[in-house]
Amino acid sequence: MTSAKITSSEKSKNSGGDNKFQTLAWILVQSLCHGIIFAIVFSIIWYSFVDYELFSFHPTCFSIGYFLFITEGFLIFLPNSVVTRNLKRQTIVKIHIALQTLGFAFIVSGFVIIIVHKFNKGYSHFVTPHSITGLVAVILTALSTLGGITTRLKVPNLARIKLGHNFIGLLAYGVAIAAMCMGVWAELREVIKEEWCIVIIVLTCVVAAVALANALFSFIRRVKNL
Ligand code: HEM
Repeated sequence: MTSAKITSSEKSKNSGGDNKFQTLAWILVQSLCHGIIFAIVFSIIWYSFVDYELFSFHPTCFSIGYFLFITEGFLIFLPNSVVTRNLKRQTIVKIHIALQTLGFAFIVSGFVIIIVHKFNKGYSHFVTPHSITGLVAVILTALSTLGGITTRLKVPNLARIKLGHNFIGLLAYGVAIAAMCMGVWAELREVIKEEWCIVIIVLTCVVAAVALANALFSFIRRVKNL
């Protein structure tokens, strides 16, 4: 009897330890993601301004828009988020809207800047894989933003509109991250070693995968509850 009691209490102690270890590991992973985001955005801005011209604002605005604001807008929904764990769901949604709006403003600026830059230089538009992927990302982001605005209005079929907003948002983000990696590979290789470009691309994909995985689970939950 006594030995059975000891065993079960030991078991519960161990599982408590495991939970603590998991929580700690999860906090570490999340903190790493936030750190990587700031380090990568800083590096892209730094190297874009090595040869300052109007173009320098294109990678700057797009990396701030997509990789800082939009990614953080996804990460705040992570379970036990280090940033929003003590906040109410409604407050988190408000922060999400603020981050997405700021992100969208940077995305529009980055898009206008590259169009004007290429126009001034007489270059052709939307001919490289990066520029075509980037255009698709911007169009999908605009559609998802429209969907997001509609979800704030009192319209019929709200659940389906939310689902559409989620799905197009996920797609836009995935395509944008692909465009960002192509942009880094095409442009930064001229100023930093190829190995560092690969490190930036791999870390970008890891953080994006964490953000996307959580958003995908929430999308699947919504589909099941429809
Ligand atoms: C999510 C991020 C990004 C998106 C959505 C994006 C989107 C675009 C688009 C749509 C164009 C074509 C404009 C035109 O043809 O008129 C373009 C051009 C360009 N982008 Fe980006 N961009 C992103 C990030 C970056 C980054 C991080 C870099 C470099 C570090 C970069 C470098 C370039 C270059 C060099 C061009 C001109 C050459 C070309 O058309 O491929 N971009 N980008």
